[in-house]
Amino acid sequence: MKVSIILGHPHEGSFNHAIAQRSKQTLLENGYEVFYHDLYHDNFNPVILHEEIPEDGTVDPVIRKHCHEISESDGIIIVHPNWWGQPPAILKGWIDRVMRPGVAYKFEEGDKGEGIPIGLLKAKAALVFNTSNTFEERELQVFGDPLERIWRDCVFGLCGVKTFYRKTYRVIVTSTFEERSEWLKDASDIVSQYFPLISVDER
Ligand SMILES: Cc1cc2nc3c(=O)[nH]c(=O)nc-3n(C[C@H](O)[C@H](O)[C@H](O)COP(=O)(O)O)c2cc1C
Repeated sequence: MKVSIILGHPHEGSFNHAIAQRSKQTLLENGYEVFYHDLYHDNFNPVILHEEIPEDGTVDPVIRKHCHEISESDGIIIVHPNWWGQPPAILKGWIDRVMRPGVAYKFEEGDKGEGIPIGLLKAKAALVFNTSNTFEERELQVFGDPLERIWRDCVFGLCGVKTFYRKTYRVIVTSTFEERSEWLKDASDIVSQYFPLISVDER
């Protein structure tokens, strides 16, 4: 069983990196194969060009590898900070380029793209871990928590991933070492809940 971890944060010492690393460690302990991508470290190019957009367009080998891995994944974990109520641009570009037609979704025959897409991802569950400096009440009341709709509905719902769970750790900027340690344990528990220990036969 395979799980993709996609991390979008520029600083290797960040709490986001700690969440992604702990998630990876938990998955490995539970017997999963992990596709791990730290997009900044990989110098991922987020800019999609015109030629790449059509289903039969020109797709470079790096993107092909990402597409293959996401298609193969039984689970997906996304980790990123809240930046303006959105994922960082590098991760937005990963969505644009990797969640392609024919890979993540398709349209019914005869549908030119105006209809309702059919999700193609085989992943059973997607988890999103976010960090934020905004208290939950203000996030909900003032901004409407756009990340929830982006990931749950616009991305994973559309691409056919039925089980979705998202957790935001906040407020990072004033958090203590003890709080962050607790949060890492919490993230690990969530990973184990959705991707529990598997026997050698199931791997
Ligand atoms: C470009 C940018 C935009 C940001 N926008 C928001 C925002 O809209 N809401 C918010 O709560 N925090 C925002 N932040 C703060 C980050 O969410 C915060 O630094 C991050 O979650 C801390 O996690 P880390 O310790 O792993 O870096 C922003 C930070 C940057 C650099």
